[in-house]
Amino acid sequence: MTAKAMEIIHKVKGFSDIFPPRSETYTRLEEAARQIFSRYGFGELRLPLLEKTELFARSIGDETDIVQKEMYSFQDRKGRSLTLRPEATAGVARAYIENKIYAGQEVSKLYTLGPMFRYERPQKGRQRQFHQINAEILGSAAPEADAELLLMLTSFLKNIGLKALVLDLNSLGCSKCRPVFIEAVDAFLRSEERAGFCPDCQQRSQTNPLRTYDCKVDRCRENMKGAPRITDYICLDCRDHFQVVKDLLDRSGVEYRINPNLVRGLDYYQRTTFEVISRDIGSQSAVAGGGRYDGLLKDLGGPDLPGIGFACGLERLVMLLGENEPAGCDFFVAVLVPEAKETGLLLACELREQGLCGETGFEVKSLKSQLRLANKHLARKCLILGQEEMAGSTVLAKDMQTGEQHEVAREKALSIFDGL
Ligand code: HAM
Repeated sequence: MTAKAMEIIHKVKGFSDIFPPRSETYTRLEEAARQIFSRYGFGELRLPLLEKTELFARSIGDETDIVQKEMYSFQDRKGRSLTLRPEATAGVARAYIENKIYAGQEVSKLYTLGPMFRYERPQKGRQRQFHQINAEILGSAAPEADAELLLMLTSFLKNIGLKALVLDLNSLGCSKCRPVFIEAVDAFLRSEERAGFCPDCQQRSQTNPLRTYDCKVDRCRENMKGAPRITDYICLDCRDHFQVVKDLLDRSGVEYRINPNLVRGLDYYQRTTFEVISRDIGSQSAVAGGGRYDGLLKDLGGPDLPGIGFACGLERLVMLLGENEPAGCDFFVAVLVPEAKETGLLLACELREQGLCGETGFEVKSLKSQLRLANKHLARKCLILGQEEMAGSTVLAKDMQTGEQHEVAREKALSIFDGL
């Protein structure tokens, strides 16, 4: 073998390996989402990770950072341009249209879990492969759908143990009133000397003026302080819609903050948009984001039906929650003599079949090192199999907390756990 072949191969930058106990926190969050979302009538949609590039260009928007700079796109062997999904909403919309789900039900509630891919600069809370929990309601334009979705999101965040979060809310208007607002923004940007903005914003001010609202460059933020506010421009219908959403949140005791600068980084949004922000995780502070996308299905060649949804970033939730405390296990089987090896393994498997959780060391070792292993596994009982126990078909059960031990007939091993 050459020296080169023996070099270790590293993971791709911005991607991560998630081992226990961290992976257990991911699982716990996914299970909580499944449980809560199903109470609200959501079913799981399992989507491909790979879609045609055009899907994202058309839905997220050609001029967005995601499409311009952050997609993992490549040509397949037949020269077709494919992209690893940077988000899930476009795929949900595509699947909903392609499978004509709208024909069978008036309103569809779908959630999807899994990895997303964005070629961003990795930093704390920002990865190139990250995981989202997505929920989408398709087919309802009612403001009650917005409120229900937000209540489900806050219920989920509360249920997993997050409390000190801020819900930012805005309305981006609809296809009737938004053009008037965009004109006002355009006039503002022209009046503010364009040169005062960063090069990205100078470009954005011509292609997609709304993007100037979420520029992170200090001088642009300062310049935008006097910019028009969307909430002053939205039409009566949008205003009424937004009012119902706010009233329902008020009546449910959900606190929120109106943030007229919240434009989101994807172009498909209309009307209600929102983000959940944490003050505890540094600059990448949004743990969830979403909004209404009433024109998206039509833009993708589907029926003119509305939709609203959100996505939570699992990495950021895990950062806030920390890792799960290791749960420990019920037993550790300590094998002290070679003839006990098989019996030990079978005893462990039998107990697991009975619903207990435990470990065996596979190898014969001294009692001292077996007890050390039992402690390492946080086992509540150590089941010792030495020469005497093998001869008498018994097992010696040691309580790892009190140190008490007693012998039990092996076929009665389950009784050791009575009352645990
Ligand atoms: P988004 O705001 O782009 O929205 O992403 C949602 C959440 O995903 C963010 O709030 C953040 O927690 C997490 N996230 C995004 N990028 C990264 C990253 N590079 N590393 C770690 N976490 C990240 C969407 O994706 C929309 N599809 C949400 C939606 C669903 N709108 C309607 N329906």
